[in-house]
Amino acid sequence: MKALVLSGGKGTRLRPITYTSAKQLVPVANRPVLFRVLDTITAAGIRDIGIVVGDTAEEVMKAVGDGSAWGANITYIRQEAPLGLAHAVKISKDYLGDSPFVMFLGDNVIQGGIKHLVEEFSRGDWNAQIVLKEVDDPSQFGVAELKDGRVIRLVEKPKEPLSNLALVGIYMFDHHIFEAVEAIKPSWRGELEITDAIQYLIEKGYKVYPYIHRGWWIDTGKMEDLLEANRLLLDEINTSVEGKIDGDSSVTGRVVIESGAEIVNSTIRGPVAIGKNTRIENAYIGPYTSIYHDCLIRNCEIEHCIVMEGTKIEDIPFRLEDSLIGRHVEIKATAAKPKAYRMMLGDHSKVSLIRENV
Ligand code: TTP
Repeated sequence: MKALVLSGGKGTRLRPITYTSAKQLVPVANRPVLFRVLDTITAAGIRDIGIVVGDTAEEVMKAVGDGSAWGANITYIRQEAPLGLAHAVKISKDYLGDSPFVMFLGDNVIQGGIKHLVEEFSRGDWNAQIVLKEVDDPSQFGVAELKDGRVIRLVEKPKEPLSNLALVGIYMFDHHIFEAVEAIKPSWRGELEITDAIQYLIEKGYKVYPYIHRGWWIDTGKMEDLLEANRLLLDEINTSVEGKIDGDSSVTGRVVIESGAEIVNSTIRGPVAIGKNTRIENAYIGPYTSIYHDCLIRNCEIEHCIVMEGTKIEDIPFRLEDSLIGRHVEIKATAAKPKAYRMMLGDHSKVSLIRENV
């Protein structure tokens, strides 16, 4: 059994973060999403992993390396343009050969892992197995219709959904998927769609079975979903304090405070994760916040946020909430005259300021 992880793509919904870096490397609960994907795959006993990479190839390769940190053998497969999930499968044919494989979207997080799925698929003689999850709003997803225990149809964002079973970004395939990805044509958006490839398998009479996932699952393609994944993962942390907490600070709830981190005269209310060498000074860090490595948070209040590496936030008069802050960002209030907001924001940045007297 091999794994194929998709870590290319355009990432348009996560701009401006994705102008400069891979969305799969955004940390949730202080661990990059892609690392969590690799944790999940290796925990299911799979060691041979192909990672499809695009424009952010160098950054992904630098972060993941040869896979030895996971005891895995990693092969990088370059996709010249984000031409669709089925295109990513097509270009990985030489790597995958005749091996059955799990395909995992590199920006998805799933509760409870995929061990049972991999075992079930290995036992059967099925050609594909599709992970599905019951959702409240199926019209937002690719949806599967089942009959007699088999998948009989897939519909992308149906206006009148025939079921509430949405496709999670995890699929098991045998080599027949290559016949399908060769046969299908690009969709209206110019991509080779994995749903079309699976529909092809169904129509040719191949055995396509569902796997209903019971825990949570998050596609972290948008900021709100990243914050939600952060919340769900922080809810599962166990307290571990390797950094220093001074006597004037108060820390309650479950927290991870990594080595070299310092908490000075501050209140931390978990669940919260503080990364290596980060300094929290005269600050309040509220529930569902993770602050990654080498940050400085001073004289301000932060809650329900993800703050990425090397960022400094100082002297902010109002609480910062529901925010995703990139790497090496500086946010600071000053007394400089004239009294004004001063910003340097990348394209597609979003800033929400407080309107007073409303
Ligand atoms: P998506 O989130 O569906 O697509 P995207 O990354 O282009 O993002 P957006 O819609 O915001 O522009 O992709 C799911 C995962 O698959 C993600 O980890 C990126 C990866 N991917 C590839 O590796 N190659 C591709 O051709 C596509 C479309 C996605």
